[in-house]
Amino acid sequence: MAKITASVFTSHVPAIGAALDLGKTQEDYWKPLFAGYDFSKQWMKDNKPDVIFLVYNDHATAFSLEMIPTFAIGTAAQFQPADEGWGPRPVPVVQGHPDLAAHIAQSVIQQDFDLTIVNKMDVDHGLTVPLSLMCGQQDPKTGAWPCPVIPFAVNVVQYPVPSGRRCYNLGQAIRKAVESYDEDLNVHIWGTGGMSHQLQGPRAGLINKEFDNAFLDKLIHDPEAAASIPHIDYVREAGSEGIELVMWLIARGAMSDVARGATADVAGGKSPKLAHRFYHVPASNTAVGHLILENT
Ligand code: DHB
Ligand code: FE
Repeated sequence: MAKITASVFTSHVPAIGAALDLGKTQEDYWKPLFAGYDFSKQWMKDNKPDVIFLVYNDHATAFSLEMIPTFAIGTAAQFQPADEGWGPRPVPVVQGHPDLAAHIAQSVIQQDFDLTIVNKMDVDHGLTVPLSLMCGQQDPKTGAWPCPVIPFAVNVVQYPVPSGRRCYNLGQAIRKAVESYDEDLNVHIWGTGGMSHQLQGPRAGLINKEFDNAFLDKLIHDPEAAASIPHIDYVREAGSEGIELVMWLIARGAMSDVARGATADVAGGKSPKLAHRFYHVPASNTAVGHLILENT
C-alpha cells in the first residue's frame, strides 16, 4: 500500500530560482535564506520519497484567463519547465507518475472533489523553485530530480479561489486515495506558496510576521483552526498573494492527526512530528516560511 510519510511546506518566490540559477546563493542578501534549507536538503537525502505529490499554483503560465481550473492534477509522464518570459529555468524535466496520478484522480473525484485532469502542462516557478530548494541544483541535461512528481495546481490567482476549509478536506481525500493504491510507495506531499506578500497596489510589499508565525503555529498544532481562517483574512492580513497559503492546508489535511473539532473525516493517528521550521524576511517581496512534518 502507498503511504504518505511526510509533508513539506515552502514558499516558491521566483527570485529564489533566479538566485540559484545565476549562482548568487552566497551573496549577503541570499545567504541566510539558503542556510534555512541546508537541513532540508540533507533531510531529503535521508528520507528519499518514491513520489512527491506537489501542490502549487500556476501563475498564468500553463493556464490563463481563458481557462481557470480550481484544482488540476497532472497525469502526464513528463512536465517541461515553463518559459515565464526569460526562458525556461535550467532545471531537469519533471518526471510524472501517470499511474498513481490517474488512481488519485479516480479516487478523489469519487470522493466528490471535481478535479481537472491535465495530460500536458508546463510547470512554472511555483513547482520548480520548491524542488530546487529541497533537492539542490541539478544539471538540466545530466541531472534529475530524485523521484517522480505529481503536479497539483490550485487556482489562487483569479477569484473565486477555494477556501482553506475545502483545501484541508481535499487533503484528507488525497490521503485516502494514496492509501488505496496497491503498490508500496513512500509518498511526500508538499504545500507551496505564501507566506505574506502583496505584489501590487497601494499595499505592495506588505509583510505580516505575526500572522505568518501564528499560521505556522496553527498548521503544526491546530490545523482545524488554520482551516477555519476565511479567505478574506488571508487577503487582509497576509496580502493579496498571501492567499497562496490555502495550498498548505491541502498538504496538512493529508497528514495523520488526532481527530479534532468539526471534521469527522480527519485521519486518526498521532500528530505529526515537526522536523524543521524556518522563517525569513525578505526574499524579493515575500516572507519565506518553511516546515517539514513527519508522520510518526
Ligand atoms: C513574488 C512572489 C511570488 O509568490 C510570486 O509568484 C511572484 C513574485 C515576489 O515576491 O516577487
Ligand atoms: Fe506565487
